[in-house]
Amino acid sequence: MTQKLYIRTFGCQMNEYDSDRMADVLAASDGLALTDRPEDADVILFNTCSVREKAQERVFHDLGRVRELKAARPDLIIGVGGCVASQEGAAIVRRAPYVDVVFGPQTLHRLPQLIRDRRATGVSQVDIRFPEIEKFDHLPPPRVDGASAFVSIMEGCSKYCTFCVVPFTRGEEFSRPFEDVLTEVADLADQGVREITLLGQNVNAYRGALPGGGDAADFARLIETVAEISGVERIRYTTSHPKEMSARLIAVYGRVPKLVSHLHLPVQSGSDRVLAAMKRGYTALEYRSIVRRLRAVRPDLSLTSDFIVGFPGETDADFGQTMKLIEDIGFDGAFSFAYSARPGTPAAEFADPVPAATQQARLVRLQSLVDGQYRALSEAMTGTRQRVLVTGRAVKDARELAARTDNNRVVNFAGDAARIGSYVDVTIASALPHSLRGELLPSDSPVVA
Ligand code: SAM
Ligand code: F3S
Repeated sequence: MTQKLYIRTFGCQMNEYDSDRMADVLAASDGLALTDRPEDADVILFNTCSVREKAQERVFHDLGRVRELKAARPDLIIGVGGCVASQEGAAIVRRAPYVDVVFGPQTLHRLPQLIRDRRATGVSQVDIRFPEIEKFDHLPPPRVDGASAFVSIMEGCSKYCTFCVVPFTRGEEFSRPFEDVLTEVADLADQGVREITLLGQNVNAYRGALPGGGDAADFARLIETVAEISGVERIRYTTSHPKEMSARLIAVYGRVPKLVSHLHLPVQSGSDRVLAAMKRGYTALEYRSIVRRLRAVRPDLSLTSDFIVGFPGETDADFGQTMKLIEDIGFDGAFSFAYSARPGTPAAEFADPVPAATQQARLVRLQSLVDGQYRALSEAMTGTRQRVLVTGRAVKDARELAARTDNNRVVNFAGDAARIGSYVDVTIASALPHSLRGELLPSDSPVVA
C-alpha cells in the first residue's frame, strides 16, 4: 500500500518551498503520497520556523500532540526540519525522544537516507550541516501544480541584522549557478507555468556563477534573461534587501514589463537610530530615495514591507518616524511583528527593552494605518482594467474563478474553468476587505482605464 506523508509548515515562503521539495524527494525515493490527515500518515514532518519565539514554541506544542500517534503506531516516523531543527539539533531529540529524524534546510535532500538509517538502527538521526548548494543537485525536478511556480535562486543570508536568527539557521548567502536557474525556469515554462517567483532570503544579493567562469551574473541580469524565456509572462521575487537595490536592478523596472509592478522591500523601521541598531545598512532617507527612483521608472509600483515594532530602545519619536514613512511611501500592505528576542543574536543583549504592552499598542496602530492604505488602494482600483492570472476556482464559491492582479490582490469573477492557468482581462467592480470582485472582459476590448 502507498505510504503517506503529512507535512506541517511554519513560517516563510522559503519554508513553503522547502516543504514541497521534501514531498518531491520522498515521492521520488519511496513513492510517498501527501495526506492532510496526520492520523493517516506513515511519515510526519514539521518544517519549523525560529524567527520569533512564538513560532518556535508552537512546534513543541504540536509535537506533543503527535506523540500519541507514535505511541499507538511505533512504526510512524516523526521528523523535524527547518530553522528550529538547525538551531537546536540533537537538543530536540533530548527534549522529545520520540522524534526520529532532525534535518536542516540544507539537508532535506538526505531525508530518504536519514529515514532508512533510523529504521535500520533504531537510533534517531540528526543531520543539520550546511553542505551549501549540494541540495539542489540532489533534488528531483519540481512537480508543477498550476500556472504559477517558485524557483529558489539562493540560500541563506549574510546580512546579520542584529535581531535575526536566519544567518545562523540557514547559513551564509549562496547562489545557485545561473544556468541551473534558467534550466529550471525553462522546464517549468514548458510544463505550462506562466508566472515565476524567484525565491531567496535576499534575492537581489544573487551572484550566479557562469559556465565559463568570470564575473558572476547579478540579479538584474537574471531577471532580464528569465524574461526572455518563452512562456514566462510574469516575474515576481521575494524577499529583497534595500541595500542590494542596485541602479542596474532599478533600471530593469523601466525595461522589463514582465517584472510585476509590486515589490516587497522590507524596511523594518523609519528611524535611523533604530535602523543603525538593527545593522540594516541604510537610512530612512536612502530607502525613500530607492522608492523615488523606482517610481520614476515604474510610476504604478505597489510597495509592501516588513516592520518590527518595539525594538530595544525604540522611543515614541522613533515609532512616529516609522508611521510617517508608512504614510509618505503609501505602503500597500505589510508583515509587522513585535520584536522578539532570539537567543544568540546581538539584539537579545541590548538594554532598554520595550514593554510588551507598548509593543502591542504600537503594532495595533501600525497595522490599522497599513490596513487603511490597503483598502484605499483597493477602492482606487475599482473601475480599472486589470490583467490577471487565473489561479483556480474561487475559495468561497466554486462556480467562480480566482485570479491575481499584478499587485498580488485576489480577484473573483464569473468565468469558465477552461481559463484556469491563463491571463485574462477584468474590470474591477468592487473592493471587499481581502479581495476584489471583477467582471471578465473580452481580450480584445478597448482599454478602459
Ligand atoms: N530577508 C528579509 C529582509 O530583507 O529583511 C527578512 C527575512 S526574516 C525571516 C522575515 C521578517 O521577520 C523580517 O523582515 C522581520 O521583519 C521579521 N523578524 C526577523 N527577526 C525578528 C525578530 N527577532 N523579532 C521580530 N520580527 C523578526
Ligand atoms: Fe534576517 Fe536581516 Fe538576513 S532580517 S534574513 S539577517 S537581511
